[in-house]
Amino acid sequence: MDKIVIRGGNPLHGTIPICGAKNAALPLMAAALLSDEPLRLSNLPHLADISTMAHLLGDMGVSIAMDGDAQDGGHMGRVFVLDASGLKSTTAPYELVRRMRASILVLGPLLARHGHARVSLPGGCAIGTRPVDLHLKALQTMGAQIELSEGYIEAHAPNGLSGGHVLFSNITVGGTENILMAATLAKGETIIANAAREPEVIDLAHCLVSMGAKIEGIGTDTLRVQGVDKLHGAKHAVVVDRIEMGSYAVAAAVTGGDVLLKGGRADLIESVINVMRGAGVEITEEPGGVRVRHKKSAILGFDAMTEPYPGFPTDMQAQMMVLASVAEGASMLTETIFENRFMHVPELVRMGANINVHGRSAIVRGVPKLSGAQVMATDLRASSSLVLAGLVAEGETVVNRVYHLDRGYERLEEKLAACGAEIERVRGEG
Ligand code: UD1
Repeated sequence: MDKIVIRGGNPLHGTIPICGAKNAALPLMAAALLSDEPLRLSNLPHLADISTMAHLLGDMGVSIAMDGDAQDGGHMGRVFVLDASGLKSTTAPYELVRRMRASILVLGPLLARHGHARVSLPGGCAIGTRPVDLHLKALQTMGAQIELSEGYIEAHAPNGLSGGHVLFSNITVGGTENILMAATLAKGETIIANAAREPEVIDLAHCLVSMGAKIEGIGTDTLRVQGVDKLHGAKHAVVVDRIEMGSYAVAAAVTGGDVLLKGGRADLIESVINVMRGAGVEITEEPGGVRVRHKKSAILGFDAMTEPYPGFPTDMQAQMMVLASVAEGASMLTETIFENRFMHVPELVRMGANINVHGRSAIVRGVPKLSGAQVMATDLRASSSLVLAGLVAEGETVVNRVYHLDRGYERLEEKLAACGAEIERVRGEG
């Protein structure tokens, strides 16, 4: 398995291009199942999760043509044309769903367009149990018959789905996306209340509208969808990745650097920017993106609590903990979305951080320096926090299990090295 080796201490200077969002691209790819005409998606990131989704859709008979790379000064957004006219299977097998929970996003579209879907239950994952009960309950509200058998969700809607009033008891990003897609082809009106408002949900809604869907309330917590008989083909460019952008913002700040996050949009990550500014980091919007600069003065401790959008994103909690680790004074990071999302803490402690976890909160007392170590991560964002810690630590840090990073960060080591980081990937066997 590959490793990433970092010799810390270099401030980052330069430009980092920000990719299209993985978490927007995955539901957008699933949306291709809703039509028998091609959906052209551009600005797709080159990531393992995108390949897994392509593999899953390809297995079902969706043809995917790579329409070249849209090049823009070193920023290569991939273009896929997805055509589901020759669909031959409505099953999402265990081998693929196990690799990526977001495979569950094919459930709503398959059921809406084909009246049947068989999707493996995703099961647990490192950051918590992550059930899909809310997706299933909502589909039942829309008339689906659902059974769980042999580890699979067997869903039927022989006469199609019908509109209904879906009230999510908890805000769920994937659940909102699944039901939104299903509702576009349901009979009558579907109201989705307590819907997620993440930029990736909004991006999906805009794409669905350009495919002919009738959706009102985009960007609010109540979506009203009038079902239509058919969706048509469309072209859509994936929204920029706010989590990639936030991760590199922390990299710039923590190393005392000056980096332009090219293509970045401050409006998508205001909650993080506000906390970083409060900690003393300079963040400015420029015509080409967002600039993050940190002067020599110390970073100040801060508090942050994860919440659904527009609150502070859980996907930035681990990275911000690195900033807190080298801040002056104490910080508190509270996790309210996932029950087991402090797996990076013991690894950061091994690098010299002073962190105590009390229930859902981590108290971080800033230390003057971190030191390099061999570390291992259990999930995507935890891995990125270890890379960030390695950039600021004295000596050498070796991050193992790089495959987690490859799920969510395109060309991570290249982007950081181009800004002066001493970082390299060491190819491993197997
Ligand atoms: C998405 C993101 C992930 C992010 C998360 C929260 C993608 C591909 N992934 O994940 O990066 O960390 O949003 O912002 O977009 N829940 C239930 N029952 C359900 C569904 C969810 O109890 O049926 C719970 C989850 O366990 C979790 C919370 O609701 O505690 C939020 O999960 P959800 O918003 O659904 O996360 P994902 O869509 O899986």
